[in-house]
Amino acid sequence: MNAVELHESPLVRQNPVAPSKLKVRVQSVSYLAEDLNAFEFVSTDSDALPGFTPGSHIDVHLPNGSIRQYSLCNASTERHRYVIAVLRDPLGRGGSVAMHDVLRAGQIVTVSSPRNHFSLSNSATRHLFIAGGIGITPIMSMIAEVQRRGEAFHLHYCARTPARTAFTGDLCGLVASGLASIHYDNGDASKGLDLKATLQDRSEGAHLYYCGPAGLMDAIEAASAHWPRETVHCERFSAGGEPVRTADDDPDSTFEVELARSMKCFTVHPGETIVDALKLQGVEVDTSCCEGYCGTCMTRYLSGEPLHRDSVLDEDDRKEFIMICCSRAKSASLVLDL
Ligand code: FES
Repeated sequence: MNAVELHESPLVRQNPVAPSKLKVRVQSVSYLAEDLNAFEFVSTDSDALPGFTPGSHIDVHLPNGSIRQYSLCNASTERHRYVIAVLRDPLGRGGSVAMHDVLRAGQIVTVSSPRNHFSLSNSATRHLFIAGGIGITPIMSMIAEVQRRGEAFHLHYCARTPARTAFTGDLCGLVASGLASIHYDNGDASKGLDLKATLQDRSEGAHLYYCGPAGLMDAIEAASAHWPRETVHCERFSAGGEPVRTADDDPDSTFEVELARSMKCFTVHPGETIVDALKLQGVEVDTSCCEGYCGTCMTRYLSGEPLHRDSVLDEDDRKEFIMICCSRAKSASLVLDL
C-alpha cells in the first residue's frame, strides 16, 4: 500500500488544472484545545467561496512564503467560510508556528481553492471513522455530511488527554447517543482503542476512513489489511514509510521536458527534479511538501510516460497527471501542459 491510498479522488478529475488561488480574510482565530487553534476564513468580497466536498483541504500561503495544506473541518454545505484547525508544532517545518504566531483576525491571506484526496464513498451503507489527534479535522466535515444524508456511522477518536481533544462540545451529543467514542491513551500507544478488535469484522457495505499520526496510520493499515481495498480510505499529513519507489525506478535517467503552452524545452538530469529544472528556466510553480504527498505541484501531462513517485494520485489520476516535485519520466521525453 502506498503512503497515501486514494481510492476515490473525484475532485482531482473534476478540477484537472492546478487549483486557483483566492484572497480570504481571517475572520476569527479561536482556541479548540491545547496548542490547537481554529482559523476561519471568509471571502474578501462577500461572494460565496468555491464549494468543497467533505475531506477536502486547502493550501494556505503563509506570510513567510511557505505553503501548507490544512483539511477543512466545517460542513461542506457552508459556502461562506472555510474553517481549518492547526496544531502548533514547534518541531515541525515552521508552518504551524507561523499560523499560530503570525496570523491574526482581520489579516488577508492567499489560499487555494479546495481539492479532495480523501472523499466519502457514495456506495457505502455504513461509515467507520478513526481519527487520531489533529486527524479529526477532515473527519468532522465528513461526519457533518453523513449526518445530513442520514447514513449510519461511528467515530473512534483517539487522543492523548482531554486537554488535547478538539471539538468535544460538537461531539458530546454523538458520544451520548453511542455514535462516537473518545479513547485516551495518555501518550501510551498500547492503551486506547483496540484496533485489532475494532477492525476484525467488517459489516457488509461498511467503509473505513482514517487520519492521524504516522504510527496510528500504520497500525490501522495493518489491522484493516483484510478489508477490501476499495472500502478503505485514508489521508496522511506527511510522507510515511519508505519513498514510493519500485525496482524499475532506479537509477534516475536523463529525460527531456517540453512545455506545450510556453514552447520551452529542457533537460532534466539525474538528481534534479522537474521543478528544479523548471526554476532554471525561469518557470515558477507552487510546491509545498516536495515529497509527493501534498498535491500542490500536480500538473497535467500530454504525452510521454511518467515515472510516478508520488503517494497521492490513484491509477486513474496517473493517466493524466504527474507530481513534478518528485516524479520523473520513463520515456525519453515528457510533454507538460504548462
Ligand atoms: S509539492 Fe507536494 S506533491 Fe509536489
